[in-house]
Amino acid sequence: MNPRIEEFRKLYEQALIGAGKEAIEAQHARGKLTARERVELLVDPGSFLEIDMFVRHRATEFGMDKRWVWGDAVVTGLAKIDGRRAVVIAQDFTFMGGSLGEMHAAKIVKAMQFALSQGVPIVFLNDSGGARIQEGVDSLRGYGDIFYMNVMASGVVPQIAAIMGPCAGGAVYSPALMDFIVMVKKTSFMFITGPRVVKAAIGETVDEQQLGGPEVHATKSGQADFLAEDDKDAVGIIRKLLSYLPSNNMEDPPVIRVGDPPDRSAPELDDVVPEDPNAPYDMYKIINAVLDVGSFFEVKSLWARNAITGFGRLDGRTVCVVANQPNYMAGVLDIDSSDKIAEHVRFCDSFNIPILTFVDVPGYMPGTRQEHGGIIRHGAKVLYAYSEATVPKLTVIVRKAYGGAYIAMGSKHLGADFVAAWPTAEIAVMGPEGAAEIIWRRELEAVKDPQERAKLLAKFTEEYRNKFANPYVAASRGYIDAVIQPSDTRRVLAKALDALSTKREVRIWVPPKKHGLIPV
Ligand code: HXC
Repeated sequence: MNPRIEEFRKLYEQALIGAGKEAIEAQHARGKLTARERVELLVDPGSFLEIDMFVRHRATEFGMDKRWVWGDAVVTGLAKIDGRRAVVIAQDFTFMGGSLGEMHAAKIVKAMQFALSQGVPIVFLNDSGGARIQEGVDSLRGYGDIFYMNVMASGVVPQIAAIMGPCAGGAVYSPALMDFIVMVKKTSFMFITGPRVVKAAIGETVDEQQLGGPEVHATKSGQADFLAEDDKDAVGIIRKLLSYLPSNNMEDPPVIRVGDPPDRSAPELDDVVPEDPNAPYDMYKIINAVLDVGSFFEVKSLWARNAITGFGRLDGRTVCVVANQPNYMAGVLDIDSSDKIAEHVRFCDSFNIPILTFVDVPGYMPGTRQEHGGIIRHGAKVLYAYSEATVPKLTVIVRKAYGGAYIAMGSKHLGADFVAAWPTAEIAVMGPEGAAEIIWRRELEAVKDPQERAKLLAKFTEEYRNKFANPYVAASRGYIDAVIQPSDTRRVLAKALDALSTKREVRIWVPPKKHGLIPV
């Protein structure tokens, strides 16, 4: 063999091993896989086309002339996932903690440019100590370049980040600018400043997991969309998520039929809504009965649980699912659930995924905590997101649809294409009790005996409920398109989705503008 080819083979082997066997063992001892092992699990066998394997850093300061590794601690390339192309970026913690220097960043940017020019999703597996301290401002520039590319790619190709180790400092902003974040339990964390800086700056004592562990981000901050048990599970979640999405904003999502007939009746739905209008029930029952069997895939399942967001399929077509959850805080719209819904609707609109909304909402959440926290601004996001969405919008009003929340949750007035209501729907300015107390305030105040007053209030409440808390007033105005039997919901929605499959947006005149200004 030509000695230069022999030399190449040696270098290639070296590059595959990266920082060496010991470093790989240490990575395994942390409960983590290496970058290459992760890529192998993620992509279809034999499909990975690696680029920039022989990139090296060029810093010389602080001993950097003595330590280097082929690939500069990140593996990048193009691959297939379930037969569809994607760009994969995997940071290699085994060399200098996967820290990001000039060339490491340049590799990532090149891969992202490739994803943009080819119109394929970006999957970024993070495992890094952040900006490589030895490379100073060149590291910062690298982050800047990556953030810029994240923004350029936003709404063009899906961007999915997995956090599989540290993600600290400014490094958190690349995942934050992407569309979905998967965090691996026990081994990952994300924060702007670590426990030591927190202690020094504000005197607070907290550990890594309490500050920015996966559970914290999945339940409290809403930053993590998915929680994974381990690296393998994270990769499985990414593969599943991609199966619902188109490769870019010019394509439709893939159609995957599982043999569930679109005209299947769901008789169990006729008994889901309790007779007592204030009794809770589980919205998941409705979602699962309507969608293709086993197709519901929830996003942010542990955060703002009064709203449900996710993907599903209806007769094989991907749909964006948005719902209120009467089982949790009565399904009220508060700051977090508004953010959750608005974000999901905007993602789905960007990527041509029809929006299917199930409504049972008593209104926006009252009180000083919400008002002072900015419920006005956050609640407005829901209105904005639904109004600007041009994909097919289908809405089912299951029970309560009160006040501003009725308008916000995919109403006809914000451009819904098809709105159905169950006979149990109550569409009104507010709940019957509150309405009766206002309308008949004088009559009620005139009755001094509390028991008598309560009886009178019940009578007025019933009167109001009979008049407005039903779907027929809204139906008489054409604000809803159909009143349907619950068991027919799947059949009706499948027909409506099919009817809307060639939707072209016809809008009242919109003046030219650079971009709108969603309240943030
Ligand atoms: C250079 C780094 C590094 C970094 C880790 N290493 N982070 N080298 N720059 N940012 C190196 C370590 O020196 C060590 O090298 C090896 O990686 C493994 O790190 P350990 O500390 O031994 O591992 P572990 O105990 O698992 O801790 C990992 C860690 C910790 C939590 C990531 O290393 C750490 O806290 N690093 C600093 C994190 C940080 O503050 N980053 C923010 C930088 S500023 P040896 O030679 O011993 O193997 C930033 C701002 C970006 O990111 C701004 C963009 C706008």
